[in-house]
Amino acid sequence: MEASVTVSREAPEITRHLTAADLEASLARDVAEGLGRMPKTLPPKYFYDARGSELFEQITTLEEYYPTRTEESILATHAAEITKLADADTLVELGSGSSTKTRLLLDGMRSTGRLARYVPVDVSESALLGAIESLRADYPGMAMHGVIADFERHLGLLPREGTRLVAFLGGTIGNLAPAQRARFLAAVRSGLGPADRLLLGTGLVTDLTRLVRAYDDNSGVTAEFNRNVLRVVNGSLHADFEPEAFDHVAVWNAEAEWIEMRLRSQKAQTVRIADLDLTVEFAEGEELRTEISAKFRREVVERELAEAGFTLEAWWTDPQEDFALSLAAPS
Ligand code: SAH
Ligand code: TRP
Repeated sequence: MEASVTVSREAPEITRHLTAADLEASLARDVAEGLGRMPKTLPPKYFYDARGSELFEQITTLEEYYPTRTEESILATHAAEITKLADADTLVELGSGSSTKTRLLLDGMRSTGRLARYVPVDVSESALLGAIESLRADYPGMAMHGVIADFERHLGLLPREGTRLVAFLGGTIGNLAPAQRARFLAAVRSGLGPADRLLLGTGLVTDLTRLVRAYDDNSGVTAEFNRNVLRVVNGSLHADFEPEAFDHVAVWNAEAEWIEMRLRSQKAQTVRIADLDLTVEFAEGEELRTEISAKFRREVVERELAEAGFTLEAWWTDPQEDFALSLAAPS
């Protein structure tokens, strides 16, 4: 049922489980569903068209956005230990984006002489191709097999060669709602053998002022990233959202322990989504929810891993405990 085509025209090592047409069909479904709800929502995986992926890269360099550099520092300190414990020859990375921090893991694996293969998996074709291109020269002996896929749908189709370390970095797991998260972790688990490992990056509950600022920077890059989802809907579904008529809002939900990203309508306005034959009304001040970014505590990570059939083998954080890396083994 799923389209699975090895595309040799672009590069021999790219497999596509997701075509632009698949993405458009699921976008149409999700937009119709999300905008029909109250409060209105839009699903987050559509942030990452080429422009969205670029804006995210800009976010990772912002002074306010500490998660990337913090996770990078944890990796820099512990990559040798992580890769030694995992003892893998294949690194599979879900939501790999630009694969920048990944280099620390690849270097760790290479230094033990075990590095054979890197399998980056992302919905964003532009990010994936860019990452592979930039890694190619620096890791000449390493096989690369990029997979354009949705990690919520296509985990069962990933290459299975080697002893695998599956990395899911960036705190991206926090962008999944709890039920989605449970399903995702169980699906990862069911694809792993006893010698394979999961390396999971999670943002931690920390100073709330700093946390909120990480999602609401002064230069407005995060706001542009948030509004980009409206541009994606405009482009794919012939909608007429006016992105500038929505303000970026980031709030901490203390009960759920996640940051909520919203777009607040500056005025009463009507949006037409031609391809869905849908007209949507926004009241002045009405908020459209676009993304959550959950923050964790060690007990929660440990429990959710256990519920999915994993045992927490090791846990690393930065001195401020802003971010954590977990290494998990099949129970
Ligand atoms: N791992 C990188 C990028 C994190 S941003 C880092 O730590 O900096 C999240 C990445 O996940 C983006 O590259 C986005 O394109 C990808 N992504 C988001 N939802 C996805 C999904 N459902 N399936 C596959 N990739 C997804
Ligand atoms: N995985 C990133 C995070 O949760 C994604 C992200 C960063 C994000 N900034 C954002 C998503 C702003 C939506 C809006 O940290």
